[in-house]
Amino acid sequence: MPSTLPVPDPAALAHSEQLRVHIAEAIRAAGGWLPFSSYMALALYAPGLGYYAAGSTKFGAAGDFVTAPGLTPLFGQTVARTVAAVLAETGGEVLELGAGEGHLAVDLLHGLADLEAVPQRYYILEVSAELRARQQARLAEYASRWLDRVVWLETLPTAFTGVILGNELLDALPVDSVHRCAEGLFERGVSVADNGPFVWADQPVSNTDLQKLGGLFPAVDGYVSEISLAVPALIRSLAGELKRGALLFFDYGFPRAEFYHPQRAQGTLMCHYRHHSHTDPFWLPGLNDITAHVDFSAVAEAGEEAGLDLLGYTSQGAYLLQAGLLDQLAALELGTPTYLRAVVAVQRLLQPHEMGELFKVIALGRGVNAALPGFSGNDRRHAL
Ligand SMILES: C[S@@+](CC[C@H](N)C(=O)[O-])C[C@H]1O[C@@H](n2cnc3c(N)ncnc32)[C@H](O)[C@@H]1O
Repeated sequence: MPSTLPVPDPAALAHSEQLRVHIAEAIRAAGGWLPFSSYMALALYAPGLGYYAAGSTKFGAAGDFVTAPGLTPLFGQTVARTVAAVLAETGGEVLELGAGEGHLAVDLLHGLADLEAVPQRYYILEVSAELRARQQARLAEYASRWLDRVVWLETLPTAFTGVILGNELLDALPVDSVHRCAEGLFERGVSVADNGPFVWADQPVSNTDLQKLGGLFPAVDGYVSEISLAVPALIRSLAGELKRGALLFFDYGFPRAEFYHPQRAQGTLMCHYRHHSHTDPFWLPGLNDITAHVDFSAVAEAGEEAGLDLLGYTSQGAYLLQAGLLDQLAALELGTPTYLRAVVAVQRLLQPHEMGELFKVIALGRGVNAALPGFSGNDRRHAL
């Protein structure tokens, strides 16, 4: 157990123990070994037990981490400009994937209303029943005017026109862990000793996609990194259903050459508990968020292979500046508590050592020719 982390209360520990037993049973049922992606899927999403599926506070000061939409409404109101530009050209609706506590949905609807661009439907696809309930409550309180337009979906819609977007969704999708050493390429999976803790256990890589991407790892003995098969699979599914419009994703990550850099020899797997970061995904499953950075080259490739155009890729800081974040700030009344809170949040969103540089924004589309707000400066598509 990482020694510097806050100690959870007895109820939280009991909850984690329930999930630990559940995962241990799944490992035994699978013959003693699970791919890390299966472990991560259970730790985050096992019904009623996983981190996102159970009731603890995850977002904000009382939770484990803060996301951009939770920092300030100005984030969603700025993103609304890009969304409105796409909708003006293609028409259609908005679909948000993984809406967390519903901040982005509320702020986007307000921002789109300011631009007279509220769509007939704002769809949300959310795997966590518990978060869906929080989204419903937030929208009922802060966006009741458009509540009859908000529809929660169980599955991806077919033949969609409009904008599909997600903030910090891609980093929450399960990843596999691959280890390159002198003996070859190994998949790091999860095993369990008799009633003991979970342990890493290597098996030769058999999946051809993992072999292909693992083959790109630098020739550094003991190199470990993550490969997400779920991210390109999701992008392919979305592209397959996008008749006309754009995909817009915000997340932390890099182009592939930076992701699989020789100096990043321990990968990007990261866990968050009460605003502390650590790298042990086996510590108290169910109480920690587990994430990996996003390989944005994989996102672009999957979209382009499915026939989408790469409309834009840049840092979140550059995107927000160009899309008009500071205009949104300037519209607030100077010196008020709202303004002062917004200034702090805007600094955090823009500063390179905070969320301005590590976070990126990517837009892929079909039948979109308009220049999209946010992407006309600092074009980094060449890096993908
Ligand atoms: C890190 S949180 C980000 C939440 C929110 N977008 C924000 O920025 O605050 C990830 C969200 O994605 C949801 N999620 C994860 N996998 C999903 C999937 N396959 N489809 C839809 N939602 C998913 C989680 O339940 C959670 O709401």
